[in-house]
Amino acid sequence: SDDCRLDLIKSLVRAFPDFPKKGIIFRDICPILKSPEALSAVISLFEQHVREKFQKVDLVVGLDARGFLFGPLLAQRLGVGFVLVRKKGKLPGATVSVAYDLEYGKAEAEIQEDAVSPGQKVILIDDLLATGGTLYAACALMQQQRAEVLGCLVVMELKDLNGADKLKPHHVHSLLQY
Ligand code: PRP
Ligand code: ADE
Repeated sequence: SDDCRLDLIKSLVRAFPDFPKKGIIFRDICPILKSPEALSAVISLFEQHVREKFQKVDLVVGLDARGFLFGPLLAQRLGVGFVLVRKKGKLPGATVSVAYDLEYGKAEAEIQEDAVSPGQKVILIDDLLATGGTLYAACALMQQQRAEVLGCLVVMELKDLNGADKLKPHHVHSLLQY
C-alpha cells in the first residue's frame, strides 16, 4: 500500500481457522503488540485519523478486552481520558448495562454510571469489527448516558459480516479490511 505503516501491521496479523468455534477464522493481533514498531504504527494511524476528522474529542472509550490494549495509548496521544466498557459484573458502584450478540457468542456490556457526562464527545475503540454487536452495544450505552459518539476505530474490519451497516449512522474507521 502507499502507507508502510499499514503494510507492517498487515504482515503481522495471523489467521487461525476454527477458533474459538468451527467456521470462525480468528484474526490474532498479538504479534502487533509484540512489535513496538507495529504498535506505534497502529496508534499513529489512529491519531492521524482522529486529528484529521474530529475538531474536539473529550474521551476515548475502549471495549473489553482488546480495546483496552490500544485505547489508553491513543487517549494519551490525544491528551484525553480513557473510559472502560467492561463485560458485565466487573465494575464497582452504580452501572448501566446492555446485552448483545457477537460473532461467536453472547455477552453483556457495562459502564459506570458516571463514566461519561451528557454532551461529552467520545471515540470508541476496539481491535476488531465483526458483526458489530459489541460496538453497537457500546454506542447504545453512550447514547443512554447522552454522550455524543463521534465515531468508532478498529484495527480490523471483517467486511462480509456488514458490521459497519449495523453501526450506522455512526462512522467506523478500520486500518485493515478482510
Ligand atoms: C471480540 C473482539 C471484539 C468483538 C467483535 O471480543 O475483540 O470486541 O469480539 O465481534 P462483534 O463485532 O461480532 O461484536 P470478545 O467478545 O471475544 O472479547 P475479548 O476482547 O475479551 O477477547
Ligand atoms: N471477534 C469477533 N470475531 C473475531 C474474529 N474472527 N477474530 C478475532 N476476534 C474476533
